[in-house]
Amino acid sequence: MTILIINANEIITLKSEVKGPRIKEAMSELAILKGVSVLLEGDRIARIAPLADIEAECPELVEQAQVIDATGKIVMPGLVDCHTHLVHGGTREHELNMRLSGLTYMEIMNAGGGIHYTTTKTREASYEKLYEKTYAHLNDFLRYGVTTVEAKSGYGLDWQTERKQLEVAKTLHKNHHVDIVSTFMGAHAVPKEYKDNEDAFVDLVVEEMLPKVAELGLAEFNDVFCEHGVFTPEQSRRILVAGKRLGLTPKIHADEIEPYEGAELAVEVGAISAEHLLVASDKGIKAMAKAGTIAVLLPGTAFFLRAPFARGRLMVDSGVPVAVSTDFNPGSSPTISVPFIQNLACMNMGMTMEEVLCATTINAAYAINRGDEIGSLEVGKKADILLLNVPNYKQLQYFYGMNHTDTVIKAGKVVVRGGILL
Ligand code: NIG
Ligand code: FE
Repeated sequence: MTILIINANEIITLKSEVKGPRIKEAMSELAILKGVSVLLEGDRIARIAPLADIEAECPELVEQAQVIDATGKIVMPGLVDCHTHLVHGGTREHELNMRLSGLTYMEIMNAGGGIHYTTTKTREASYEKLYEKTYAHLNDFLRYGVTTVEAKSGYGLDWQTERKQLEVAKTLHKNHHVDIVSTFMGAHAVPKEYKDNEDAFVDLVVEEMLPKVAELGLAEFNDVFCEHGVFTPEQSRRILVAGKRLGLTPKIHADEIEPYEGAELAVEVGAISAEHLLVASDKGIKAMAKAGTIAVLLPGTAFFLRAPFARGRLMVDSGVPVAVSTDFNPGSSPTISVPFIQNLACMNMGMTMEEVLCATTINAAYAINRGDEIGSLEVGKKADILLLNVPNYKQLQYFYGMNHTDTVIKAGKVVVRGGILL
């Protein structure tokens, strides 16, 4: 299959000679091309050049290509959502009025709701039900231009259900157009069965669950909810170090609700990323900049929990590589809309229109160790490409709260056209 994209107003390539996540001013370098076309061959990007050059260099390919006319539109890499709790049972709309009338997220959780409620629903759901529900979420992601998602387990808190979640993700990675990168998060909460016996649950995660995840190849990353009243930094350290020994790269839910030196711990254990960071300390931010630890910021969670936003502006200025993601989950951020999350990152974290595009493409790709493969439009990279119904990239943040996605090409195949899933 060969595709030729012509006449685009702007092609946002995010190409760079420098490898690795972008920092500081480099986060604003979108490497925009005008007057060029993009040729796709199979699942790869084959050429990005003026049409006449492509025609002269590969006439046969051009001859057989499906031509996509991008007149009046922009072209950019598929969005990468690098932090989601994709596979879960049920919904939690009943918690919204509770929170609006003053109960906190942690109060609801400590009273047996929150993550515990979703754990019950996820345990009860059959593999087939979970698969179908997740399939529908992935369709929504695709219509909003998201071509790769990270997916955390963590609503089982027992081996059987954690495994069910990870297997749903693994099978959907094969069966759905959206690529899924899996993270084990058995330490997402202390299950009711282990109340007042937290260390025994940590033992279970470390001694039984993590070795099985590694042996079965069910995840690449290992995450933990390091938070007052959930897992302490000591328990989190133990879980992350144990996973690392088994080949699972550490990630961490850090400094989300109360400061807990989560950012510092991420650096200490060599995590690829620290995520949330709403109340991360100055010291933690400095340490992350020095180590190159990626900050995965989730402004939808601050919006939905009515909490202070992470200090995204300061982090970018301090030299932390910043990625931005939905945190899609049934409690603190039930949205798949990366475009709206970009709007929030601009308006509430002070990131620029350019930085948010970098943070939801190439830097997000690096946060899940896929920076060499996706996140920018470069010859040889995977052909995950969007056509957006705006004449310039600035309108993506200006006409906010909207889905501008017109066409999604996933691995060289058109999967959304005119905003409609094919
Ligand atoms: O990232 N902080 C912990 N986990 C999720 C929320 C999970 C839930 O409420 O179901 C988060 O915000
Ligand atoms: Fe999360």
